[in-house]
Amino acid sequence: MRKRAIPSSGEELPVVGLGTWIQFDVGESSTARKPLKEVLRLMAEHGGEVIDSSPMYGNSEEVVGDLSTELGIADQFFYATKVWTSGRQSGINQIQASMQKMRRDTIDLMQIHNLLDWQTHLQTLKNWKQDGRIRYIGITHYTTSAHDRLEQIIRSEDIDFVQFNYSIRTRNAEQSLLDTALENGVAVIINRPYEGGSLFGAVSGRDLPEWAADYDINSWGQFFLKYILSHPAVTCVIPGTSDPEHLVDNMGAGYGRLPDEQGREKMVQFIEKF
Ligand SMILES: NC(=O)c1ccc[n+]([C@@H]2O[C@H](COP(=O)([O-])OP(=O)(O)OC[C@H]3O[C@@H](n4cnc5c(N)ncnc54)[C@H](OP(=O)(O)O)[C@@H]3O)[C@@H](O)[C@H]2O)c1
Repeated sequence: MRKRAIPSSGEELPVVGLGTWIQFDVGESSTARKPLKEVLRLMAEHGGEVIDSSPMYGNSEEVVGDLSTELGIADQFFYATKVWTSGRQSGINQIQASMQKMRRDTIDLMQIHNLLDWQTHLQTLKNWKQDGRIRYIGITHYTTSAHDRLEQIIRSEDIDFVQFNYSIRTRNAEQSLLDTALENGVAVIINRPYEGGSLFGAVSGRDLPEWAADYDINSWGQFFLKYILSHPAVTCVIPGTSDPEHLVDNMGAGYGRLPDEQGREKMVQFIEKF
């Protein structure tokens, strides 16, 4: 799979990862867990690494930890999770719990979820990074209204990653947030690339344009993901899925040609007709 470097270290990450918000919040039942196990197995097989979770996502961290261990491929992934609480000690307790649930001694990327009490947690994360218990520090949000705040923090603080919403239909990040991340050497993870799945509704029953083949696009999912990945500031995109076939489709966006600037404009014009 295509890889891009994390600016703060030069370490390369595969460009398509996995979100776990609703899909991985299941109980102990093997029926519910079976497709998720297959999703993780196929992800490793197709070269994906980044798994994004949060203590906000119910059992998701635990399910990721259990299934990756059962598969015997736990060390093949890049684990991103979040701190989502107020107060220093509460944050520390939550981070420790996340590590246990994900069954990791170190977390690759610890992010401050929706900027909740971010100044407090940032200090903790800096200390933990220095101690080697987390490898990278990030901040996240999922709404366009938070983009200005994310941008201010990118400019003023020493962080490795920023995660936010961006899609072919919701392109506010193109105004300045993506460029600010690029200029400040901050890696970018894109959440809600399908707007929670609603983008598929917008193109339902419609064929891909013939020229999509010029960019090795074989599905609407790949059309949406390749639009995002063709922005030079984007390091990785994390579509959420519980469906092994969708997972393979999503991983496919990490292979083959990407649209150039002209192709990107053509894609937007095509989608805006619907
Ligand atoms: N504040 C934050 O930090 C924050 C906020 C929101 C999200 N996130 C992260 O971003 C991740 C992604 O966002 P999201 O899950 O909200 O939305 P999303 O990735 O935009 O969309 C997920 C939806 O798309 C469907 N889907 C996935 N791949 C598909 C494919 N190839 N073809 C057709 N349908 C497909 C999924 O259904 P199936 O299960 O049927 O495939 C699911 O309903 C989350 O899981 C989470 O890790 C972070």
